[in-house]
Amino acid sequence: MVGRMRMAAALLLALAACAALPSRTAANKISINWKPNTNYSDWVAQHSPFYKDDWLVFYYTAGQADVVQVDEAGYNKCDASNAIYNYSKGRTFAFQLNETKTYYFICSYGYCFGGMRLAIKTEKLPPPSPPPSASHRSAAAAAAFARSHAAVIFYAVALLAVLLRVV
Ligand SMILES: *[C@@H]1O[C@H](CO)[C@@H](O)[C@H](O)[C@H]1NC(C)=O
Ligand SMILES: *[C@@H]1O[C@H](CO)[C@@H](O)[C@H](O)[C@H]1NC(C)=O
Repeated sequence: MVGRMRMAAALLLALAACAALPSRTAANKISINWKPNTNYSDWVAQHSPFYKDDWLVFYYTAGQADVVQVDEAGYNKCDASNAIYNYSKGRTFAFQLNETKTYYFICSYGYCFGGMRLAIKTEKLPPPSPPPSASHRSAAAAAAFARSHAAVIFYAVALLAVLLRVV
């Protein structure tokens, strides 16, 4: 019985160690289908948070849309006259959000007034979760770990229950 429990506990620890790989370490590529007559405020909400060094990849039809980076005033007024940068060639445009700030993009073809504009606030990438150490894991870290690995923990506990019942 004790032997089985030790084995099950070791298995549980091994599973937990495998699951403890940090979930997000590198820049993400976020694709956006950039098209007229679309209101992008929900899109921004759904794709938040954005992190510094993420890439925004705009897919659009040349001649139907352009991508214009503007300042906050340009965003609010749908005014491209003080454009920081504009892009209208090809079919895709990849832009790296390489600072921690709010970026503003509009389409200058008039569709901005219908919601074809983006205000994207970037955050610093959170530090990777600390490596699991059986002796020194704070309660908060343990709780966060449990939240992010609920499925793995569930199966490990189920496995443990099965193993113990077998004895
Ligand atoms: C985009 O840039 C080009 C060249 O820099 C400029 O001629 C054009 O007016 C700009 N368009 C917008 C909408 O800012
Ligand atoms: C876009 O959608 C948001 C949220 O649904 C709304 O508050 C906003 O007024 C819309 N903008 C336009 C231009 O329709």
